[in-house]
Amino acid sequence: MKTLLKNGMVYTPCGFEQKNLLVEDGKVFLSFDLEADSAVNKLEASVDKIVACDNKYIVPGFVDVHVHLREPGFFYKETIKTGTMAGARGGYTTICSMPNVNPAPATLEALKVQLDIIERDAVIKVIPYGTITSRGDGRSRLADMEELSPYVLAFSDDGKGIQSKELMEAAMIEAKRLGKVIVAHCEDESLLHNGYIHDGEYARSHGHRGISSDSEWVQVMRDVQLAEALGCRYHVCHVSTAESVEIIRAAKGRGVGVTCETAPHYLVLSDADLREEGRFKMNPPLRGAADRAALIAGIQDGTIDMLATDHAPHGEEEKSRGLEKSPFGIVGLECAFPVLYTNLVKRHIITLDKLLDLLIGAPIRRFNLAGPRNSRIEEGMTADLAILDLDTEFTIDSKTFLSKGKSTPFDGARVQGHSVLTMVDGKIVYTEGADYANN
Ligand code: DOR
Repeated sequence: MKTLLKNGMVYTPCGFEQKNLLVEDGKVFLSFDLEADSAVNKLEASVDKIVACDNKYIVPGFVDVHVHLREPGFFYKETIKTGTMAGARGGYTTICSMPNVNPAPATLEALKVQLDIIERDAVIKVIPYGTITSRGDGRSRLADMEELSPYVLAFSDDGKGIQSKELMEAAMIEAKRLGKVIVAHCEDESLLHNGYIHDGEYARSHGHRGISSDSEWVQVMRDVQLAEALGCRYHVCHVSTAESVEIIRAAKGRGVGVTCETAPHYLVLSDADLREEGRFKMNPPLRGAADRAALIAGIQDGTIDMLATDHAPHGEEEKSRGLEKSPFGIVGLECAFPVLYTNLVKRHIITLDKLLDLLIGAPIRRFNLAGPRNSRIEEGMTADLAILDLDTEFTIDSKTFLSKGKSTPFDGARVQGHSVLTMVDGKIVYTEGADYANN
């Protein structure tokens, strides 16, 4: 299959350059000036498909290290098919699936259940996590990390914090031995006090129980100290508080091998935006305005390395139970780029270059994904690409999502910047306007 991507702004090592790309046998083969070379003009006649990319931006597909695909076990919330379709629509070509599924990937036998479904159904690349503990509950004994190691991105009990220092210490020693990263959901359950939204002004004035910031940063602090002492590579999931940002900034200054991510909603919203609807509930919760400002400063100065969606779909009825009773989690894959581009790049908070590094280059570097994946488009690279329209304004409408999950606080937001076509290994996996209704 030969596809010609004609006349796009291509994200090369030199920045955006107007070029034509030939995609053949799953690789980007050439970038050339069609008009200047008549021999190449013949190519137009010989390709299987020509995609007009005028006024479009061609970038390597985004990489999301924090996605809940729910399968095996919770297919009514999402399947690997629907979750990867949602990723394709969002411009993602690689996503990493969190292990709070059933069976939890704590052994190779359990992981194989998920790997088989990925092999059968995934339309983009999926790299699973293994659990840290044998039940993925932050408390049980260590998972069989050694046998999982060749097949997983890293180890995480996401959804649960590792409750004891001794358990985290043992996990870090084993991860270091295996050359893997520990990816931590930081949440000290003894500090939760049955809270379910941020312990701030909104919770107080609306009579809700709050989740304090220390339930997050106390564990970040503990783990950073452990990682420093043990020399383990350590990554913090969905950072939401100013204190966590400061702890990580200081640790990086000391040369500790720590990285972290935050998610679009923590950068764009705060607890002042809360409404009495389940689509505003996730864990960690939307924090205060000062936290949001600290997170923005964190992405600007490099303390926060990457952006992940924490795409966490649930059933429609589950999310209809309001702030107290709905489960934690919102979807993100299909609106992350538009939300980030509109709120951060268009408002001059970060450059497009920086946003692309947060979504592509940084996860590739941290998790050693270079080789099969590129952070810029170069000749010979695997054709995992997204073609972006940065100009057309539209309204986010979760009813159109390919994900089974429809719950997002960004429903109804006016945004711009979206993928019109996504390609994996040179194969088109998403085209805007195509009918995916029966997927
Ligand atoms: O909001 C969340 N939802 N946060 C988590 O840590 C887990 C996730 C889920 O699995 O639903």
